[in-house]
Amino acid sequence: MKKQLQSLKRIGFTVGMTAALAASSLAQAEDKLKVGLMLPATGTFAALGTAITNGFKQYVAESGGKLGGREIEYFVVDDESDPAKATENANKLVKRDHVDVLVGTVHSGVALAMAKVAKESNTLFIVPNAGADELTGPLCSPNIFRTSFTNWQPGYAMGQVAAAKKAKNVVTLTWKYAAGLQSVDGFKEAFEKAGGKVVKEMTLPFPNVEFQAYLTEIASIKPDAVYVFFAGAGATKFVKDYVAAGLNKTIPLYAPGFLTDGTLEAMGDAGQGLLTTLHYADGIKNAKNDAFRLNYAKTYKSQPDVYAVQGYDAAQLLAAGLKAVNGDFSKRAEMVKAMEAAKIDSPRGAFTLSKAHNPVQDFYLRKSEGRDNKVLEISAKALADPARGCKM
Ligand code: BEZ
Repeated sequence: MKKQLQSLKRIGFTVGMTAALAASSLAQAEDKLKVGLMLPATGTFAALGTAITNGFKQYVAESGGKLGGREIEYFVVDDESDPAKATENANKLVKRDHVDVLVGTVHSGVALAMAKVAKESNTLFIVPNAGADELTGPLCSPNIFRTSFTNWQPGYAMGQVAAAKKAKNVVTLTWKYAAGLQSVDGFKEAFEKAGGKVVKEMTLPFPNVEFQAYLTEIASIKPDAVYVFFAGAGATKFVKDYVAAGLNKTIPLYAPGFLTDGTLEAMGDAGQGLLTTLHYADGIKNAKNDAFRLNYAKTYKSQPDVYAVQGYDAAQLLAAGLKAVNGDFSKRAEMVKAMEAAKIDSPRGAFTLSKAHNPVQDFYLRKSEGRDNKVLEISAKALADPARGCKM
């Protein structure tokens, strides 16, 4: 009898605990999900930050304001694309605001600092642009996902294109920080494998735009082509200076598509006819892209670019995880599994993630015409970053 009573008590305790846990999960699932957007709102990458925010919010709005049944509450920090302020800025979101998810950023150096904060606090971190190879390389982690690219990917794609166009000697020029340096590494790897030679690698500090001395040196070297990594306002200034120096008449300019995405209007005539490689182009024909572009133009009264697509897909990836757990963010392992297995129906074309959590995706060779980056061909099909150093 005593034994029976004890086991009845034990059953009562277990049922009570299960009910309490279910109630707390339910309560959590009914709370708003806190999303920390850490992006540039000022500086040379400001427009890129705005496009990512717009894209993210567009997907949430298209989903009725909820992801996986959870309403979204935004917490926003302007990171100024300044790595020196990055740890403090990320901690504002993680330690002060207690966000569930950290979404950001554009600048590779800032994203590397965010990854450290995310790892230490085990915060889910989704990168909607920064290409730092390390994030899905040596720093890869179950809580770090990316919906954009590695710096290596579009550089590698353009290295193949430059070789196919029979360039032999190429000069490179970029800002001296992870994105530019790794972009050049990717270009060089493909280009030299195909028999080309990078004869000079030039750099200037980020975000300097005093290009004249470099253009003078390029004119004296007379390479077959120039490969550059620039983006945002700095890209506009560079292309205008390149054309003003007359270099475009004799030395083709090659670059990852960040050079011409979101910048063609500001470049005017100088931006016409440029060849770039990227995982998105304005004229991609698929139903998702048509609907995405129409809704974006209606909502924001402007045309979307690759950054808007990456922001949109960051929200899609988060939704895939949340749906799998009915919005119960405490079921992190299940969420991560669903995100790893997700096939994202992106405006760029559907993509999946590599084991290191980076998109495996097609790269397009594009040509700028008017305000569009038009597709010429798929230059690298389902290109996966090698994820060197990732042990996951
Ligand atoms: C980067 O810092 O990773 C980056 C910035 C702008 C465009 C593309 C990459």
